[in-house]
Amino acid sequence: MSQPRPILLKGGRLLCPASGTDETGDLLLERGSIAALGGELEAPAEAEIIDCTDKWVAPGLIDLHVHLREPGQEYKEDIASGTAAAAAGGFTAVCSMPNTEPVNDSAAVTEMILERARKAGSCRVYPVGAITPGLKGKALSQMAELKDAGCVAVSDDGHPVSDSRLLRRAMEYASGFNLPVICHSEELSLSAGGAMHEGPMATALGLPGIPAEAEVAAVERDLTLAGLTGARVHIAHISCAGSVAALKRAQEAGWAVSGETAPHYLALCDQDVGNYDTHRKMNPPLRSAADREAVRQALASGVIEALATDHAPHSVLEKELEFGFAAFGVTGLETALGIMLELVNEHLLKPLAMIDRMSAAPARLLGLPGGSLAAGGPADVVVIDPKAIWYVDPVNMRSKSANTAFAGRRMPGRAVLTVCGGKVTFRLEA
Ligand code: DOR
Ligand code: ZN
Repeated sequence: MSQPRPILLKGGRLLCPASGTDETGDLLLERGSIAALGGELEAPAEAEIIDCTDKWVAPGLIDLHVHLREPGQEYKEDIASGTAAAAAGGFTAVCSMPNTEPVNDSAAVTEMILERARKAGSCRVYPVGAITPGLKGKALSQMAELKDAGCVAVSDDGHPVSDSRLLRRAMEYASGFNLPVICHSEELSLSAGGAMHEGPMATALGLPGIPAEAEVAAVERDLTLAGLTGARVHIAHISCAGSVAALKRAQEAGWAVSGETAPHYLALCDQDVGNYDTHRKMNPPLRSAADREAVRQALASGVIEALATDHAPHSVLEKELEFGFAAFGVTGLETALGIMLELVNEHLLKPLAMIDRMSAAPARLLGLPGGSLAAGGPADVVVIDPKAIWYVDPVNMRSKSANTAFAGRRMPGRAVLTVCGGKVTFRLEA
């Protein structure tokens, strides 16, 4: 394969949370790697020189939690469209959840995903394998096989393992292969039948509720089992104050636990379901304004270490329905950075902390390459214009699905260039 042309990113604000770098300078990408950073750099004659004045130059964003829908539901998304959406959102790597059809519970499915991702070429894809075959919660998957094939973690996302004894065994087993366990923490006996967060808004709309306790009770159980087993446990899509408090306690106990939240829990709350908008329906649901504030503070303090989109594309067939019948899930790859820039503008996060939550922390949590601008690392980089105002139009998304929760929203900035492995995977047309 031919090497991409060297790229010199000139005069940007270099943001590397791993080293604490936040200074103006150049970044040189050569032969798929970061060749040098800082100060004024000489470019090789054949290099493309890109002026990054007033732009941020950061390690490519890494999303721990996306649904690429391939194999099996390519009418919603496929690996090519999902990774193109990722690149347009500034991401250079995504972790793909196993609730495909068939479920990713085997080397065959993992290898197929990796092969398609290599062909699509828009970003790195790290498959996450199922904890139980078919996500049925009955037995343990062949985790050695999944790891050998390329899975970076195991998860029950979308279909929680209700049997605590089985989950304990899963954590013990996964530890043996150094595979983190990503928990979708939901007590199904409490959430069953619900459509939105249980509270006054659900009552007013006449919709069946999902209490925050359905999440908190499961988070408590999952963290308790992390303490018992010593396993690396990561809590997916944290949406409420009770889960934050539980995670903080478990961290103080010294357990190997971490958590993520998603942009919609930072920017919206149950009031925003307002007009029975099915693009505001996801699982876990949008919580109270107080929960949103707790989640925002936890992301700022680092109790919640990572931002992940839970990009969950669904077609109009699943979304243009009565609220109760619509599918859970919203897209996120193309809007996540804009929502995080809002938090920067509100002084909740410094730019360096934003890049930590979206790149360095995800890399650290799953031991993935990237997440840093250090010389010698992969040339996975995003250039961000923090002042490029745009408005979300579902029609203009790279994703095959238009189920964004942020249609019409003003975004304060965006990715203007994404480079993965030294190759330009997205460039905003001027
Ligand atoms: O809203 C959600 N959508 N939550 C999940 O846990 C699964 C996901 C999906 O796959 O659509
Ligand atoms: Zn998910």
